Amino acid sequence: MSLRIAVSEGDGIGHEVIPEAQKILEHFLPDANFFEVELGLSKWEKTGSACSPEDIRELKGADAILFGAVTTPPDPDYRSVLLQIRHELDLYANLRPIRSLQLHGDESAVDMMIVRENTEGLYSGIEEIGTERSTTLRVVTKFGSKRIAEKACSLFLERNSEKPLVIGYKGNVLKSDLLFRDTCNEVAESYGIQTKAVFIDALCLDVLQHPKNYDVSVTTNMFGDILSDVCGYLTGGLGMLPSANIGDKYAFFEPVHGSAPDIAGKGIANPVAAIRSAAMMLEHFGMKHEADLVEESICDLIISGVSTPDLGGCESTSSFGSRLLESVCKKEEREK
Ligand code: NAI
Ligand code: MG
Repeated sequence: MSLRIAVSEGDGIGHEVIPEAQKILEHFLPDANFFEVELGLSKWEKTGSACSPEDIRELKGADAILFGAVTTPPDPDYRSVLLQIRHELDLYANLRPIRSLQLHGDESAVDMMIVRENTEGLYSGIEEIGTERSTTLRVVTKFGSKRIAEKACSLFLERNSEKPLVIGYKGNVLKSDLLFRDTCNEVAESYGIQTKAVFIDALCLDVLQHPKNYDVSVTTNMFGDILSDVCGYLTGGLGMLPSANIGDKYAFFEPVHGSAPDIAGKGIANPVAAIRSAAMMLEHFGMKHEADLVEESICDLIISGVSTPDLGGCESTSSFGSRLLESVCKKEEREK
């Protein structure tokens, strides 16, 4: 049976970067059935709903989901589409690889993985909004901490890491983080993995100063969100960072960046984050070799000066996407 892949461009630059990522998927998965699920602010403006129960049913019917980004207005009555999807599909593990462009044998290249808990923490969605006092409940459970720690440990083993598993937390101030740290330590011990717990604020600086000291880091929801944007600095910016949101049943792939209204419609958004997210989907389907071909082609092109303006180049979103697909095809030809 052919794979069913849901595609949601979302808002803003999602409409520009996702078609480039979809082209790569269509190339490697010619028999897959791609179907569109419209989500986001523009859908809300048209229909009064940014993500309906029917949309959730459609997403659940897919083997994997490719998602752009949605605009979320800071309005107390507007529910975040992403929080809704992550909760309803129980996508508890957000995997955010941070890879700089890899030159062969380049000792300074950065290659790390942020494993972010994706359903609890400060993004629990449990809030009371008032005019004199507003609160957001920060939820840390043993269950949630255990399953994200297990995910981090299995990735750690897959990557044959020789560095300690870093636990990003803030237990000196947020006592809820002690449960997170202690649970991660217990799980890591059962895997025979050495850990290092680091306060998240210090971690955000140290990871920039000494990126080679890091491989897999595990942290709570909002800290992971912030830490990954910080690490974007190591890779050339937000246009470079992909992610996978994985649960026990569903898999959802999206760039780390948002809808970037400041550049939307200009055709200059960097599609690499979206394309790398598509490559993570290929890897999820067991197509590691194909995912590596995409990654190598991205590195070759950018190192040879072909890039969008955020990296100093002059390619448009679509011309970069076309050059990338050409490069992938040439690599495949050479392999034959
Ligand atoms: P953003 O990630 O959209 O943009 C931050 C900065 O990075 C902007 O200057 C933007 O031009 C640049 N940038 C982002 N992606 C880029 C790309 N592919 N190529 C070149 N430059 C890129 O974050 P911001 O501005 O905080 O949020 C804008 C909207 O996106 C908000 O409504 C926010 O809620 C939403 N958002 C949605 C996310 C999602 O759906 N996953 C994630 C983050 C933000
Ligand atoms: Mg973010």
